[in-house]
Amino acid sequence: MKPKDFQQAILKWFEHQGRTDLPWQNPITPYRVWISEIMLQQTQVATVIPYFERFMQSFPSVESLANASVDEVLHHWTGLGYYARARNLHKTAQIIAFENQQQFPETIEALSALPGIGRSTAGAIRSIGFKKPAAILDGNVKRVLARFSATQGWPGKTAVHNQLWDIAEHYSPNKRTEQYTQAMMDLGALVCTRTNPKCDQCPIKSNCKAAIRGEQSLFPGKKPKKVIPTRESIFLRLRNIEGDILLQQNPPAGLWGGLWVLPMVDQLSELDGLAKNLQLEVKATKFLTEKRHTFSHFHLDYQVFDIEVQALNNKVTENKTAVWYNPNNPLSLGMPAPIKALLD
Ligand code: ADE
Ligand code: SF4
Repeated sequence: MKPKDFQQAILKWFEHQGRTDLPWQNPITPYRVWISEIMLQQTQVATVIPYFERFMQSFPSVESLANASVDEVLHHWTGLGYYARARNLHKTAQIIAFENQQQFPETIEALSALPGIGRSTAGAIRSIGFKKPAAILDGNVKRVLARFSATQGWPGKTAVHNQLWDIAEHYSPNKRTEQYTQAMMDLGALVCTRTNPKCDQCPIKSNCKAAIRGEQSLFPGKKPKKVIPTRESIFLRLRNIEGDILLQQNPPAGLWGGLWVLPMVDQLSELDGLAKNLQLEVKATKFLTEKRHTFSHFHLDYQVFDIEVQALNNKVTENKTAVWYNPNNPLSLGMPAPIKALLD
């Protein structure tokens, strides 16, 4: 899709569906764009609105903000979280008011040099506040562009992030920049939502690679799972003549603490010792299945063996941490799901 066509589709959509009555849009000034963008960085629009209005009542200009104490600014931030944002706001207001004759810089370079202003916020201030060409890439826009271009990978990675910036720059217009920027944010917030995007309402759906492939949920790519180690183990499904299965209760601390599980060994050769201990005679051993269960900090790859046994006495029944479990008349014992699945 050519940038001209892309921009035209986005701008046309904005005329009917875009948001134009948010408090920071009436009126638009670089100062108000800046404050609202900082508030919106980690906070939802609905939450931000009353904060923005109170903030503007108390600090209507960059000069009034610069002359306030940092405590007053923090007080207005109470409840918004990420308080470094408020401290940076105050610092940046002082730089602009006292070192820059109250003039906001207009270039991306100068804007991004200010505390708390990154490349995307700089782009928003320049494009919306100054109506000058600049690209943005906030969370919403990242999602739209990653899907539209089917850009693989997690945007937290530098290479992916840079690719998305290139795409953002490529489609960014030289005219109606304030409408285009707001439109891209609105499209991400209202149509190209994180779950269940409303692609039927989207102005760029015919060219959206993710939508064409039906792969909206694959973009943007997820943060890669951290690599966790693998452990191997064997579960023994010991069955007596009646078809009851031996369960043992784990010690309270540790893996599956206090839960009832199949006996677990590292080597099949440990079966003999276990059987002797519980006074069981092993009649037959059969490999059953092999599975993986993933805990938060490791994978457990386990094999399951089905072992026919004959109880030589009541050793098991006398044992408080072992039980013959009858699958047809199950006791209500706490069991991990993967073990429960092996009992049926
Ligand atoms: N999120 C970030 N910037 C925004 C804006 N200008 N309007 C609505 N939501 C936003
Ligand atoms: Fe997002 Fe769907 Fe539009 Fe593609 S078509 S940009 S997935 S809303």
